Amino acid sequence: MGKNILITGASGFIGSFLVEEAIKRNYNTFAGIRNTSSRKYLNDPRVHFLELDFSKEMCLENSLRDAATRFGSFDYIIHNAGVTRAKDNETFNRINYENTVRFVEALQQTKLVPQKFIYISSLASFGPGNNDDPITSQHTRSPLTAYGRSKLKAEQYLYSTTDFPFLIINPTAVYGPREKDVFFLIKTIERHMEIYIGNSQQLLSFIHVEDLCEAIFLSMESPVINQNLLISDKHVYTSKTFNSTIKTKLNKKTLCLVLPVKIVRLVAVISEFISRKSGNAPIINRERMKEFEAKNWGVDCSEICNLGFTPKYNLDSGLTHTIDWYKEQGWLKK
Ligand SMILES: NC(=O)c1ccc[n+]([C@@H]2O[C@H](COP(=O)([O-])OP(=O)(O)OC[C@H]3O[C@@H](n4cnc5c(N)ncnc54)[C@H](OP(=O)(O)O)[C@@H]3O)[C@@H](O)[C@H]2O)c1
Repeated sequence: MGKNILITGASGFIGSFLVEEAIKRNYNTFAGIRNTSSRKYLNDPRVHFLELDFSKEMCLENSLRDAATRFGSFDYIIHNAGVTRAKDNETFNRINYENTVRFVEALQQTKLVPQKFIYISSLASFGPGNNDDPITSQHTRSPLTAYGRSKLKAEQYLYSTTDFPFLIINPTAVYGPREKDVFFLIKTIERHMEIYIGNSQQLLSFIHVEDLCEAIFLSMESPVINQNLLISDKHVYTSKTFNSTIKTKLNKKTLCLVLPVKIVRLVAVISEFISRKSGNAPIINRERMKEFEAKNWGVDCSEICNLGFTPKYNLDSGLTHTIDWYKEQGWLKK
């Protein structure tokens, strides 16, 4: 019998790939979802579904106890559920931080602490690098956004626990099939627009979702514990290289627009105003602007590489794979 693994946020982009990776590795795989979650990418008959309500500790404890009675306790948990966009700062805090605290407490309360609890955090909890030096796990924390701060708070909480074996994964920007943010940038280039905010030489890092899953399982199955692991494909790119790669893949000519920061800041203010009125997450806000303006998002991922991680994709091959998927699915014209 394989080991039991619970993956929260299983209905989302990264979660659905984590579920596929767990099945491939013969885990008894439990997809943690909400009753409203889409199951579009969770159609393998071997997947067990577990509805979890992180907002109510008693409900959470009952669901966990019930699952453990029926299937045995979870050997591993990947807590991937989270929000990357929200209508206000409080929502980031509630979902990324408070839900994590409630989840950990429910596991402790029910005595269902797993062998390892993997928390999917983000590079945003570190903030940008100094000068041109890649960000390391020793980097002084300076998140620029409420999103980054909520992830950092959850990390600090994990470090404050006792007898709770955790590992924190900090992925850089993740792309691949099913993803919608990088898709939006690709779509912009398909429409012949190449847009930069401030400058075209921002340093960026990326990871293909399949490689991220490989790195997460590799570290989960390793003896490494109670630390952060930064994940990228080992390379640092400029925003110009990123756009040029997409342009070449799509064989498109573009109009290059370098938008002045002041103009985009004004758009951000308007977007925040509309968001407050509509209750939807803003497309851009002043804090996200700081991320666009930061010069350096390069990552030193030597710690995960020392565990034997070798990414299958660089940006060139990863974007080819991703764009091919978008075309097959009709998201992009063939
Ligand atoms: N994408 C990236 O580039 C990136 C980079 C670094 C870190 N991350 C982290 O990776 C994780 C997954 O991100 P993603 O890009 O895959 O996002 P996603 O596609 O939006 O998926 C988010 C998942 O979290 C679930 N979720 C959201 N709020 C929840 C709540 N209140 N209770 C229970 N489940 C909830 C969603 O469930 P529903 O389907 O029911 O809404 C969904 O399954 C997040 O923690 C994110 O911070 C992402």
